[in-house]
Amino acid sequence: MTPHAPQAVVVLAAGAGTRMRSALPKVLHPICGRSLLMHAVTAAAGIDPAQLVVVVRHERALVAKHLAEHAPFALVADQDDIPGTGRAVRCGLESVTAQEGTVVVTYGDVPLLDAETLARLVADHEERGSAVTVLTARVGDPTGYGRIVRDASGAEVLGIVEHKDASDEQRRIDEVNSGIYAFDIAVLRDALTRIGTDNAQGEMYLTDVLAIAREDGRAVRAVVTDDAVLVEGANDRVQLAALAAEMRRRINERHMRAGVTLVDPATAYIDADVTIGQDAVIEPNVQLQGATEIGARAGIGPDSSLRDTVVGEGASVIRTQALLAEIGDGATVGPFTYLRPGTVLGARGKIGGFCETKNAQIGDDAKVPHLSYVGDAEIGEGTNIGAATIFANYDGVTKHRTTVGRHVRVGSDSVLVAPVTIGDGAATGAGTVVRKDVPPGALAVAAASQRNVEGWTERRREGTEAARAAREALDAGGTDAGGTDVERTDATDRPEEQENR
Ligand code: UD1
Ligand code: MG
Repeated sequence: MTPHAPQAVVVLAAGAGTRMRSALPKVLHPICGRSLLMHAVTAAAGIDPAQLVVVVRHERALVAKHLAEHAPFALVADQDDIPGTGRAVRCGLESVTAQEGTVVVTYGDVPLLDAETLARLVADHEERGSAVTVLTARVGDPTGYGRIVRDASGAEVLGIVEHKDASDEQRRIDEVNSGIYAFDIAVLRDALTRIGTDNAQGEMYLTDVLAIAREDGRAVRAVVTDDAVLVEGANDRVQLAALAAEMRRRINERHMRAGVTLVDPATAYIDADVTIGQDAVIEPNVQLQGATEIGARAGIGPDSSLRDTVVGEGASVIRTQALLAEIGDGATVGPFTYLRPGTVLGARGKIGGFCETKNAQIGDDAKVPHLSYVGDAEIGEGTNIGAATIFANYDGVTKHRTTVGRHVRVGSDSVLVAPVTIGDGAATGAGTVVRKDVPPGALAVAAASQRNVEGWTERRREGTEAARAAREALDAGGTDAGGTDVERTDATDRPEEQENR
């Protein structure tokens, strides 16, 4: 339990966000793998409020659905058609049951705000017994922000004046309102019934609560953050990208300080929820997205995008695109490899170059080294799938599964036509189209016998370099393979020769 867990956090997210010029509501735009709103909700949840309320209005259905999916614990409160932050908070408070204690107000479009800063705000508020505590910052260009007007001593806050309502003298104040506050709930409820719309924007300003509380003789104070980016909002896509870059820089720094090597932090794109074990090495141009987990000592990249993927300890993943895959301890993947959902590669297994896998459980020490498609399959431990093997899982109507046992040798260029099962220790010859189950230990061959048509090139390709080369070889003697001898059943006798490792 957090020492100063508040009764509620109210997150304001009802605004239209028109400057984004987007069909998507502003608060649902993602940075570092979470929506702006989920960054705000995650920070709010981090101080353990008894209730977490999100005030919505613009694109209500989309925002409410997003919350139901990602933060089902959040209460959704509707703002009516009266505009302003004061009105928004009043609507939000209707969902708050507590009549005394602390309520925190934050914005849904301030993504870098963290739980530590909120906790510091609430601790200061409660320890000093303030009625209102506003989080402020000193900024180089305060244009547009509400200004913090302090008393002569500078210790207490008299009120907040919005930029549009401020005098020239007030506009010179460089301490600005972040829009984030801790309130005594009773004081807030009462003051909100007394605010009007007599201001430049004709809105109900939450900021007016400070002067009202002060006039009632309550203590109104500020906590100044020296890290102004924590309270910056994203209003357009330029600010969104700048905040994303800053968040990314901080995420990367956190991983490096925890013992992860980022060979080029400038090209490491690591989402907020990703975890990385100690001594993992992230090479240049890597995206680790969603709920991806990287084990200790794993090597990722260069040039890889892994989303919601788990990589085991000491595994190596090079030039790979992966979604919802699991890569075992010590396994190797890539280069140029596409792992689709449901791929599970066992410990020390391999999925090599130019392979695509989907819904495939590949056992410990099993290998799919080259140029293969493995879909809807189970492959047992120690099995080797020869180069260019295709698991033909789709008959045009239904997808079917293929089961390959333990320590199987599938010859190069085999096609396994699902549904089909290959037993433990079995083998297939190169170029085999496997349509029937193969019993344990058996060799499956389906290739037609080879027939050599002697002298074909000279007859049918007369005058070409190929014809001349053939003539020279035949004249030199010794390389004239004799008739049916090539029908030697190489596939049946020595399958291991067609196998690629
Ligand atoms: C507000 C503050 C200002 C502060 C600034 C910090 C007021 C009156 N002003 O100004 O002092 O410096 O934030 O960014 O509070 N919202 C609603 N419902 C509404 C209006 C706004 O939910 O009716 C939400 C918005 O979605 C947004 C937040 O409140 O997340 C702030 O709204 P915005 O209109 O951007 O306030 P500012 O004018 O920037
Ligand atoms: Mg704003």
